[in-house]
Amino acid sequence: MGRRTLRTKLCDILGIEYPIICAGLGNPGFMVQEAHANGVKVLAITGNTKNARRMAQSGIDLLVAQGHEGGGHTGRIGTMALLPQAIDAAYPVPVLAAGGIGDGRGLAAALAMGCVGVWVGTRFLVTKEGGALLSNKQRIIDSTDEDTRVSLAYTGKTLRASYNKFHDLWDGSGLEPLPFPTQVLISSALLASFIEANKTDYVGGLAGQISGLIKEIKPARQVLEEMVEDGVEMLTRKLPETVMAK
Ligand SMILES: Cc1cc2nc3c(=O)[nH]c(=O)nc-3n(C[C@H](O)[C@H](O)[C@H](O)COP(=O)(O)O)c2cc1C
Repeated sequence: MGRRTLRTKLCDILGIEYPIICAGLGNPGFMVQEAHANGVKVLAITGNTKNARRMAQSGIDLLVAQGHEGGGHTGRIGTMALLPQAIDAAYPVPVLAAGGIGDGRGLAAALAMGCVGVWVGTRFLVTKEGGALLSNKQRIIDSTDEDTRVSLAYTGKTLRASYNKFHDLWDGSGLEPLPFPTQVLISSALLASFIEANKTDYVGGLAGQISGLIKEIKPARQVLEEMVEDGVEMLTRKLPETVMAK
């Protein structure tokens, strides 16, 4: 299958106009030229303003600015503080907001700040289609906003997951993480053993602080439709009713 045919098939399967590469760690600038030559768009995720500027200058098509509250690898800056600074630093590259967005209110806030859209992880994990273990989905449903932790235990880089006893085990060990990605291999093997031994207290998937808002497993389509409908309602009706310009 030629590159072009593969590209077209991927687009058909994913229902998108262009295939995309998204780099969650590091600057994908070195691959932009080749990606563009093959009709592929390049996204990058940043957790701070310095990297927003650096990534935008390297020619990417779209930047995801993810705040500290997000699930998975995450930085130190909160979403609310990061977005306006990342938008300014990345201009004219458009920015998607990530980290703590779980419903139409988060969408409306991100659009109001100047983002072109949102990039959502945790909320879509707790859907029928979400690829997490059922026990991890349930842990998110049972969580409050305080029930996630950022830990080096999983990959050696700061990563947010649902709180579980693996975090305590790691903190109590006094160990330094091994260089990425060696720590991933070790922790994955350990987690697989916990799962096999049914030690679910020691298992929690990647998840963000928005976990506390999520109360049920829904179809992904419903999550998306509700988010868009509520966001539109907020921006076109509720907000204009409360803001008066003289
Ligand atoms: C279970 C899970 C797995 C993730 N895996 C990746 C990944 O492999 N690469 C990546 O760039 N980001 C990954 N992320 C981060 C998401 O792309 C996204 O930026 C983040 O979930 C947004 O914050 P939110 O969880 O508050 O919605 C993951 C997030 C979760 C919850």
